[in-house]
Amino acid sequence: MRFFDILDEMFNEFEEYRDIQKGKGIRGKLITIINPEAQKLAAVVEAIHLASLLHDDVIDEADMRRGVKSINAKYGDFTAIMLGDIIYSRAFYELTSFDEKIAKLVSNAVYLLSQGELEDVKLSKEINLNKEKYMQMIYKKTASLIEAACGAAAISKGLDERDFMVYGKNIGLAFQIVDDVLDIIQDEKTLGKPSMHDFYEGKTTLPYILLFEKMDFEEKNKLKSLYKKRLSFEEKKWIKNKMKEYKAIEESLNIANALIKEAKEAIEKYNIPQLLEIADKVISRNS
Ligand code: IPE
Ligand code: IPE
Ligand code: MG
Ligand code: MG
Ligand code: MG
Repeated sequence: MRFFDILDEMFNEFEEYRDIQKGKGIRGKLITIINPEAQKLAAVVEAIHLASLLHDDVIDEADMRRGVKSINAKYGDFTAIMLGDIIYSRAFYELTSFDEKIAKLVSNAVYLLSQGELEDVKLSKEINLNKEKYMQMIYKKTASLIEAACGAAAISKGLDERDFMVYGKNIGLAFQIVDDVLDIIQDEKTLGKPSMHDFYEGKTTLPYILLFEKMDFEEKNKLKSLYKKRLSFEEKKWIKNKMKEYKAIEESLNIANALIKEAKEAIEKYNIPQLLEIADKVISRNS
């Protein structure tokens, strides 16, 4: 992927950056599928995404990222925050050389992403059972950048960006729902980042919201008693079994599937098979 080489050229002078592994590159892939010429745009968006992860791991106190020690765990929070700032500022500097419409679209997404992260923090203070608040928050923290990435790529190719933004938004929402499901059902090694960590961090993600809706009074009380606690193996197993019993994972994936269907419908007429494939992969991925 050429955009990863451009990303490395931008930041290789920083030794801490050289410790960072490559991710799946979904945002860059989406951009370069829509416009194969837009490698630099893809690098800029992957840079923004990377900066957001550096800050996210400080916020979430995550000690692992992309299968290795996170930057905050290895060098401390200050380094992770500043490296994030360095990457954000260089990305914005590069953005100024793009068409104004693209620069505004992408920078506005970073504004939304940061608001989303703040809302996520606020929602983590106590159990949140409000699905609308959850959807709003994941739209901002995750879907907004994917939406803007697809829109910017379309603009760079001279296409009407609207359908591509609908596609990106729905892919992004489904992507975060699947991320929240994987936190529960996947092991740390496969994920390359901590698992069963969201509830401990205070995050009542969609599977938990759906589970609370289904549980009886006693079960609800037990689940509440586990909120923000370091869970034992048995307690993790209890949650996972209840998720199975009440089909909370299945229902979350149904919601993600419906979003993927909407995404695909939005761009069907452009006949770009790779965009349909990547949409399916959002659901079927295991890390
Ligand atoms: C992680 O994003 C943060 C979320 C939006 C869930 P990715 O899963 O795309 O992370 P990398 O870039 O592949 O590591
Ligand atoms: C997504 O949320 C983070 C950003 C959009 C920056 P998470 O906190 O769930 O992401 P992971 O699970 O740490 O990758
Ligand atoms: Mg996180
Ligand atoms: Mg987070
Ligand atoms: Mg997550």
